[in-house]
Amino acid sequence: MKELNWREVWEEMQKQRMRPLNTGYDQEFRAEFAADYSEMVKYNNYEYGRTAVVALSEILNKDFDVLEIGAGPGTLTVPLAEKVKKIVCVESSEMAVSYLRRNLKESQVENVEIMTKNWLEVSDPEIKDRFDLAACSHFLWQVKDLEKHLKKMENASRKYCAVIQPAGRDSIVKEMWTKITGEDYTGQFDPDADYFVYLILRQWGRLVNVRMLNYSVERNFEQEVRYIASFIGKYVEVDAHIKEIIEQYVSEKGLREETHSAVAMRWQTPSG
Ligand SMILES: C[S@@+](CC[C@H](N)C(=O)[O-])C[C@H]1O[C@@H](n2cnc3c(N)ncnc32)[C@H](O)[C@@H]1O
Repeated sequence: MKELNWREVWEEMQKQRMRPLNTGYDQEFRAEFAADYSEMVKYNNYEYGRTAVVALSEILNKDFDVLEIGAGPGTLTVPLAEKVKKIVCVESSEMAVSYLRRNLKESQVENVEIMTKNWLEVSDPEIKDRFDLAACSHFLWQVKDLEKHLKKMENASRKYCAVIQPAGRDSIVKEMWTKITGEDYTGQFDPDADYFVYLILRQWGRLVNVRMLNYSVERNFEQEVRYIASFIGKYVEVDAHIKEIIEQYVSEKGLREETHSAVAMRWQTPSG
């Protein structure tokens, strides 16, 4: 059996995930999907983020200065903000920042500073040891060089780092993949970086605290169709015909609250 080289595996998965999205049936797809995402993360009063905060609660402190990378619409930011002194969010997408601002305002959160910036362009000396916690949630799939990202997080934190990441995919992704491509699903969309991160950190001698968490999500019909299109559209063009197949599938399956899993990993930085 051929031995796996994790860097090669990661590079290939990255390539798959970064394929351009082809959702020709709807010109407004990106904007609508961003709105869906913001609504989804707020489901049940930010259940995912609140559960992640509970998983980190043993280390959190009201005096903490926190750095959050790729905050999106505030999934983790909003529930975390009430447990710490301040959060600085680095978020590169203007659209995500507009949802983040809106959600912070709606929840009356005032201790968050937003840097609309690419994390890779934040200079290391500028943030060295400035924070008690450097965290990212659902961000790893966008990271090309995992070791560089983790080093950069550790550079920024004088105490702890935390990575929260969805663990595995829901059945809808797998079933839809097979239905539309005719091939078996072999993990093309699985956010596996949690175990690569664990591997790297253990190689560096870090002791990693790992918690699994469950959270629930519910989408309406249109949101569910867009959710499926958002990954299938990386492999086939989602035109009117494919959209119909997706709609048919969603109608037959029905809509209900689903439970998903995530993993929360935290560790002390060498200076911590
Ligand atoms: C899938 S979203 C996750 C959002 C949120 N943290 C969550 O848990 O739902 C990933 C976010 O990272 C942002 N992002 C991706 N690459 C980035 C980079 N290099 N610098 C800053 N933000 C980035 C994206 O714009 C997006 O908002």
